[in-house]
Amino acid sequence: MPFYSEKVMEHFANPRNVGEIAQADGIGEIGNPVCGDMMSFYIKVKDNKIEDVKFKTFGCGAAIAVSSMVSEMAKGKTIEEALQITNDSVAKELGGLPPNKMHCSNLGADALHRAIEDYQKKRNK
Ligand code: FES
Repeated sequence: MPFYSEKVMEHFANPRNVGEIAQADGIGEIGNPVCGDMMSFYIKVKDNKIEDVKFKTFGCGAAIAVSSMVSEMAKGKTIEEALQITNDSVAKELGGLPPNKMHCSNLGADALHRAIEDYQKKRNK
């Protein structure tokens, strides 16, 4: 059995939505102190919908695949729907992750949620 699912390999080889949004409405950053990997998410919101998502990930292959998948899952969703994206649902969409790589999937949803919190904080000002 392969270590990574085909979907993980595919997202790792061709990650979607890599980059930065210059005038982002929300930015979320997160790092894992154990492995040192880092992830930043940028979102653009219009009419309560995530219009655009970009990310920068300095991390392992699983972290890159997870970021790519999270960005695809979040695009076009309402804020409420995007907040429902969990680490587990991301791992599931990717066809599973090896147990020792589950912490990599934690980073993805957390970084997205932080970007949303940042957006909500700015909007409430
Ligand atoms: Fe740390 Fe993958 S090894 S995020």
